[in-house]
Amino acid sequence: MKLAVLNTFISTLATTGAARSLGKRSSGTATVNLAEPIGDAKYLASGFIYGWPDNGVDADSSIPDHFASDIKFNACRAGGAQLPAPNKGWAFGGYEGYIGRFNSTLSNYLTTRKFGGDFILLVHDLWGADGGSGNDALFPGDNGDWTEVDTFIKQLVSDIQANDMLEGLVIDIWNEPELEIFWARTWEQYLEYYVHATTLFRTELPNTLISGPSMAHSPSLDRETWRTWVEAVSGKGNIIPDIYSWHQIGGWEREPERTIPEFDTIRANYSLPDRPLDINEYAWTSEQNPANSVFFIAQCERHNARCLRANWGSGGGLHNDMANLVFSVDGTYYPNGEWYLYKYYAEMTGTRVATSISSDLLFDVFATVSDTTAKIIAGTRTVQSTYDIEVSGLNGIGLPEEGSVDVQAYRFDWNGNQADTGNPVDLGITRYEYASNTLKITVEPPSNSTAFAFEIIG
Ligand SMILES: *[C@@H]1O[C@H](CO)[C@@H](O)[C@H](O)[C@H]1NC(C)=O
Ligand SMILES: *[C@@H]1O[C@H](CO)[C@@H](O)[C@H](O)[C@H]1NC(C)=O
Ligand SMILES: *[C@@H]1O[C@H](CO)[C@@H](O)[C@H](O)[C@H]1NC(C)=O
Repeated sequence: MKLAVLNTFISTLATTGAARSLGKRSSGTATVNLAEPIGDAKYLASGFIYGWPDNGVDADSSIPDHFASDIKFNACRAGGAQLPAPNKGWAFGGYEGYIGRFNSTLSNYLTTRKFGGDFILLVHDLWGADGGSGNDALFPGDNGDWTEVDTFIKQLVSDIQANDMLEGLVIDIWNEPELEIFWARTWEQYLEYYVHATTLFRTELPNTLISGPSMAHSPSLDRETWRTWVEAVSGKGNIIPDIYSWHQIGGWEREPERTIPEFDTIRANYSLPDRPLDINEYAWTSEQNPANSVFFIAQCERHNARCLRANWGSGGGLHNDMANLVFSVDGTYYPNGEWYLYKYYAEMTGTRVATSISSDLLFDVFATVSDTTAKIIAGTRTVQSTYDIEVSGLNGIGLPEEGSVDVQAYRFDWNGNQADTGNPVDLGITRYEYASNTLKITVEPPSNSTAFAFEIIG
C-alpha cells in the first residue's frame, strides 16, 4: 500500500515536472490565459442540494461550521423530501402531510442562511412528488381543478412570510418534470401547471426569484420538452423564470460546454431574454470525485452558471453529509477527498481568467489570478489520460515573455466518500523554462478521479 502510493507520487512528480520525456502521449490540451480576466472569483459551484441535517425549525449545529465556511458554501436546494409518514407532503393529507416537510425546509433554510447562502425551495417536495409518489397520487391540475394546488401554494407563501424566509430565497417551480417519477401526468398538464404556479407565486411574492424548469435532461436542439417549455413561457408576460435551470448529470447528458450554447439557441428562437443560469444538480454518483468536480467547476465558472452538486443520499442520508463532502463516524464528522478539492477552490480568490476545455471535451481547467499569483485546477471526466495545460498571458502576472518560472503542484486524491484522504499531496516546486509568454504543464493522473492544482508565482 505505502509503496504503491510512493510510486504514484514519483511518477506524477516526473510528469508534472521537467522530465516530460517520461510522459505518455497527450490526449489533448486545455488552455488558460492569465492576461484575460472574466470576472471576480465567486465560487459558483460551491453549493449542493439537501445535505443538511434537520433540526426541528432551527439551523443545524451538528456538522461543525468550518466544513461549510472553509469551502465557501453558498447555495442549497431543498424542500423536505423523503421524510417518512405522516410527513409525506401536501398530496398525502394536506396540511398534516405538509407541515413536517415545511419544518425541514425551514431548518435547511436557516442553516444555509447561517453561511450567507441562497436557498432554492423545492415546491414539488413539499407537495410530496419526491420520486415515485405513484400514478394514484394527486397532481396539480388533475381533472382541470387547480383549487388544491392554489390552497397549497397560499399556505406555503404564508408560512414563508411568517418565518421570515424571503431573504436569499428562490422558488423552484417543479423538479425534473419530464421524469414520470416526479410528474406522472401529461406534458401538457405540466406546462399548464408551470404557467399557473408561476402566475400565483408572482402575485403572492412579487419580489422573490423564480427558477425553472429544472429539467432532468439538459437542453439540446432536438428535445421537444425544451422547445415546448420555451414556447409555453414565451409571450405570456412575466412567466419566464428569473433563473433558468436544469440538471447536468452523467456523460449521456453531454456537458455544460455544449448544452449552454444550445439552450441559448432554443431560447433565442422564441425571443426569451438572457438571464442567470442554475445547473441546480450536477454530477452522477460516479462523477463525484476530485477530477470530475474540477471538470464541472471549470464549465460552471466559464459560463457564469451557479451550480449545485447533486445528492445521491436517500431517506435520512439525503438530509446529511453536505451531499457527500463529509461523512460521520460515531457522530464525529470528517472531510473526504473531494472536500479538500472544494476547500482549495474556495482559496482561489481574486479574478477568474479565460480558459478552454480540451478538444475531446474530457479535460478541463479553472484558473484565478490574485496579485502576481495564478492558481489553476485541472481534472478529467472519468478518464485516466495524459493532458497538457497551455498557460498563456504570463505577462498577466508580471512575468517576462520568456524565461523560467517556479510552479508549485498539488495532487487531490480520492478513496471514496467515506475516507479522509488528508490535505492535498504536496508535489513540490518545479522550475519550468518557457518562451512566447506561454508555459506548458503536462498532467498524468494516477487514476481517473485524481485532480491537480498548480500555482505560478509571477
Ligand atoms: C413543526 O414545527 C412546529 C413549530 O416548532 C411544531 O409545533 C410542529 O409540531 C412541527 N411539526 C412537525 C410535523 O414537525
Ligand atoms: C424554432 O421555432 C420554430 C417555430 O416555432 C420551430 O419549428 C423550431 O423547431 C424551433 N427551433 C428550435 C431549435 O427550437
Ligand atoms: C475509474 O476507475 C475506477 C477505479 O479504478 C474503476 O472502477 C472505474 O471502472 C473507472 N471508470 C471508468 C469509466 O473507466
